[in-house]
Amino acid sequence: MEKTVEGNQTALTEFILLGLGELPGMYIFLFVIFLAIYTVTLVGNMLILVTVSCDRNLHTPMYFFLGNFSFLEIWYTTSTSPKMLRTFLTAHEAIPFWGCIAQFYFFGSMAVTECFLLAMMSYDRFLAISNPLRYTTIMNFKVCMQLAAGCWISGFLAPIPTIVLTFRLPFCTANKIDHFFCDLAPVMKVSCGDTHVVKEITFMLASVVTMVPFLLTIASYVKILSTILKIPSTQGKKKAFSTCSSHLIVVTLFYGTLIFVYAAPTASQSATLNKMFSLLYTVATPMVNPIIYSLRNKEVKDSLRKLITKWSNHSLPSLAMRKDKIHHGNP
Ligand SMILES: *[C@@H]1O[C@H](CO)[C@@H](O)[C@H](O)[C@H]1NC(C)=O
Repeated sequence: MEKTVEGNQTALTEFILLGLGELPGMYIFLFVIFLAIYTVTLVGNMLILVTVSCDRNLHTPMYFFLGNFSFLEIWYTTSTSPKMLRTFLTAHEAIPFWGCIAQFYFFGSMAVTECFLLAMMSYDRFLAISNPLRYTTIMNFKVCMQLAAGCWISGFLAPIPTIVLTFRLPFCTANKIDHFFCDLAPVMKVSCGDTHVVKEITFMLASVVTMVPFLLTIASYVKILSTILKIPSTQGKKKAFSTCSSHLIVVTLFYGTLIFVYAAPTASQSATLNKMFSLLYTVATPMVNPIIYSLRNKEVKDSLRKLITKWSNHSLPSLAMRKDKIHHGNP
């Protein structure tokens, strides 16, 4: 008896992602929309990354973190989007067992890294605004690198217990995952074993890795606001606030969707509603970050404009030269 059960468990080598489910006629439409969103996300974040690293005026801690954040967003959305896009076309997309676990691991790691990086960015703003004289000595390049590395390392360590426990869960014959990527909850649903321990440990870990950065972010902004309120001139107030307003919007959106997703009563939540919420934090938030920073931040806007002018000036003469060479080469 035991043997056959064992045999059944090891037989499961792949899962099937059902995507958004049966939405006849909608697939192509959704595919096009989300392909466009994914493209905008990639291009936008790459532009920020290039702008921040090319312009020497932007070689400051704030823009170092912004570049790192954009780099993260590219991988964060890439961990789910391509597979998700395929589920829209097939509605029956196979993913190997290890691929499913890997997807969940990378997605989880980068979500945690995002929380930590957002907290670092607000801590950086807090230092710059409340301690402007000592800021450059405290936040030197080495410290920035170490803080960013700390965010990435803790992000990639945090989901490991969950991954190890999930690997050891039994999976029997049910292999259809009612979601567009391998998130923890839909994977737990198809396991035929006891998922209590995994769920509880994950909940504890998730609470720590979101609450600590969240409280750090709140504390930084409370300090920032109280410092700004003490600045006597309106002009000075505006100037100080303008350096952190873009970040404040990104933070609010990120935690806003997170709270929205987790505070919504799970019992009354239908699978479809769940998927809609997931779309918010897997696809929508990575897209808005570059938009907010490039629309609201004058320094980024100016650098971007300079960079584009430089590129177009570069490519036009080089094209003209190439034509010239061709002429000379083939008389
Ligand atoms: C992000 O931070 C890490 C850790 O300090 C660093 O190794 C990496 O080069 C940074 N990446 C970018 C694109 O800034």
